[in-house]
Amino acid sequence: MKDAKCKKCGKPAVVKFRTYRISLCEACLPAFYESLVERSVKRHRILRENERVLVAVSGGKDSVALASTLKNLASKLNLSLEIIHINLGIGEYSEKSEEVVRKLAEMLEIPLQVEHLSDFGFTIPAVRMRKVCSACGTAKRYLMNRYARLHRFDVVATGHTCDDFAAFALKNIAGGNLEWLLKFQPRAEGFAEGVVTKVRPLFERTEEENLLYVKAKKLPFLADKCPFSPPKDEWKEIVREIERKKAGFMRNFVRGIAKIAAASGESVASVKYCKICGEIASSDVCAFCKLRLRSVVAESENEMQRQTKRKHAT
Ligand code: AMP
Ligand code: FES
Ligand code: ZN
Repeated sequence: MKDAKCKKCGKPAVVKFRTYRISLCEACLPAFYESLVERSVKRHRILRENERVLVAVSGGKDSVALASTLKNLASKLNLSLEIIHINLGIGEYSEKSEEVVRKLAEMLEIPLQVEHLSDFGFTIPAVRMRKVCSACGTAKRYLMNRYARLHRFDVVATGHTCDDFAAFALKNIAGGNLEWLLKFQPRAEGFAEGVVTKVRPLFERTEEENLLYVKAKKLPFLADKCPFSPPKDEWKEIVREIERKKAGFMRNFVRGIAKIAAASGESVASVKYCKICGEIASSDVCAFCKLRLRSVVAESENEMQRQTKRKHAT
């Protein structure tokens, strides 16, 4: 950044947004970033005027950036906002995450709802599965949709990034999987009764940009990784490697795929509702209730083993 000047005010620049070939100082960065998100939101009609938006915030940089930008957009589009944070019961990691989100909600003056997975009978560490992260995704999607539906929100907003979308697209193209295309939308309308519309206003923003923004705005965020997350995400590494060679690749790629996805039309999957809880399901019992039942069974088996051990010890 030696000798580079901020494109907006002429002071010494500290960062460069490579995709946009623009250098900025720390003071001018937040307004530029927010204008990019506003442009995405308007261009792709991600949010509409007067909507009630439930903002899902984990405490990581991406969803923290999302909450702050939506706060900025709220007055322009007359949006009403509430934050939802899901405490997954992952020990110190979940405690720290909740603390960060509480601080953020207070700073941004957005009402906050914290849902504890333990109130639904289990926690993520109690899920005895090889793919803990996919169980966690099921639980988060379920709780977000349930809360949004019960409280009549128009949309649930998540902080999915350009990196997430690009890696997801490439992985599925390589796997010859076409179903994923239908999910590839910055705004995915609720496709059935009880399914709330999902929006991803940061789908054109990279994780690097989100980090620059939250740091420049001095927003609280948690840099720690979840103890269950895999050590590396190879698909993300691949798309970032291409981005390093071709600035703007990720954004253009996700835009292109979103266009193809929109042209490919909506799926009319047959819809079922869970016999236990009534939420949307792909079979008689929804994935969340299956997880809950599994965890309850695993816990009672453990308890029986503990009792047997105690009996033998005495
Ligand atoms: P992930 O699936 O962890 O990549 O997260 C994607 C998005 O889901 C984040 O940007 C958040 O908007 C939302 N999210 C993830 N974890 C939580 C959580 N514990 N509470 C609320 N929202 C979350
Ligand atoms: Fe879900 Fe890590 S946050 S498994
Ligand atoms: Zn269910």
